[in-house]
Amino acid sequence: MKRLLGLGLTFAVALAFSAPALAADGATIFKSKCSACHGQDGAGSAMAPAFKGNEFIKNSSETDIANVIKNGRNGAEKKYKQFAIGMPKQTLNDDEIKAVITQIKTWAN
Ligand code: HEC
Repeated sequence: MKRLLGLGLTFAVALAFSAPALAADGATIFKSKCSACHGQDGAGSAMAPAFKGNEFIKNSSETDIANVIKNGRNGAEKKYKQFAIGMPKQTLNDDEIKAVITQIKTWAN
């Protein structure tokens, strides 16, 4: 019984310490979900706009940016004619969206 208790405690401590690693990491999310189009470190590519110095990212609220990420931007809403494709909507949870916005705001400012 005592051993079991100890094991449980060890598990709880391990869980408590691993929690920060589970927090959404904007740089990692960007790398895996966005960089193929928006370039490494948000530098842009032939497919999608850069976030470095991007006025929309700089001046828009978190909500407005989150809406573009959640809903995408296509058809009549499309802003950049030089890119053949639109922005595909992304399936990320709110924490992940918040983290990725913090990341791209860092590059924009
Ligand atoms: C398949 C390519 C692709 C992927 C993947 C992609 N985007 Fe985009 N994104 C685009 C394109 C193209 C545009 C420009 C749309 C337009 O013409 O308005 C865009 C526009 C945006 C804008 C608006 C920028 C502006 O200057 O108005 C934001 C914000 C954005 N993307 C965020 C993201 C984030 C965050 C991710 C990853 C979670 C992501 N995108 C993944 C292609 C992509």
